Amino acid sequence: MMAINSSDAQTINSAMEQNPVLKTIMERRSIRKYMDKPVEHEKLEILAMAGINAPSSHNGQQWQVRVIEDKKLMAEYKSMFYDAPNVICICTPKENSEYNAGLLSENIMIAAQSMGLGTVCLAASVRLINSDAQYKSFLDRLEISEDYKLSYVIAVGYPAEQPQAKPRDVSKVKFIK
Ligand SMILES: Cc1cc2nc3c(=O)[nH]c(=O)nc-3n(C[C@H](O)[C@H](O)[C@H](O)COP(=O)(O)O)c2cc1C
Repeated sequence: MMAINSSDAQTINSAMEQNPVLKTIMERRSIRKYMDKPVEHEKLEILAMAGINAPSSHNGQQWQVRVIEDKKLMAEYKSMFYDAPNVICICTPKENSEYNAGLLSENIMIAAQSMGLGTVCLAASVRLINSDAQYKSFLDRLEISEDYKLSYVIAVGYPAEQPQAKPRDVSKVKFIK
């Protein structure tokens, strides 16, 4: 088995210069500080379209997506979402895996990066929303089907920080030749 070495790391750097998709993937970071400026509706539509064009098992599209633009609702719950101006709620069937929605979520985050927007996926807030009765009014507004649950929330907005990349463990990858 072979590991990734430093010349592989250089290969990706030069590939990024040629390939804007790779550049977008490599430059995405989780954003936890946002400008106080709502994302334009058209841009949120583009993110949703990018999301639902993700692959899904048997093209089952096992997700329900709720894009929150209601300023009053956002103002009530913004502190749960790093004060982002908008959030995209991803819901999945209660009796199904979340893989499909994970792929949808990454599509949204990469598309956002390509459009100068920042995102962060928020599992901790979702755990709280799903477990604490004080968030029932938030869940009610999502109008999720009975057989679905809230799985991910993606905060989205114009970034007000430029975090450094966190280290990646290249030893997780082995090539079998
Ligand atoms: C499923 C999932 C849940 C996450 N939940 C949280 C969270 O609750 N709070 C948070 O600040 N970041 C959360 N993150 C963001 C990760 O901390 C972040 O992706 C990771 O540290 C790598 O950093 P990067 O996204 O900047 O590359 C989550 C990411 C994923 C994929």
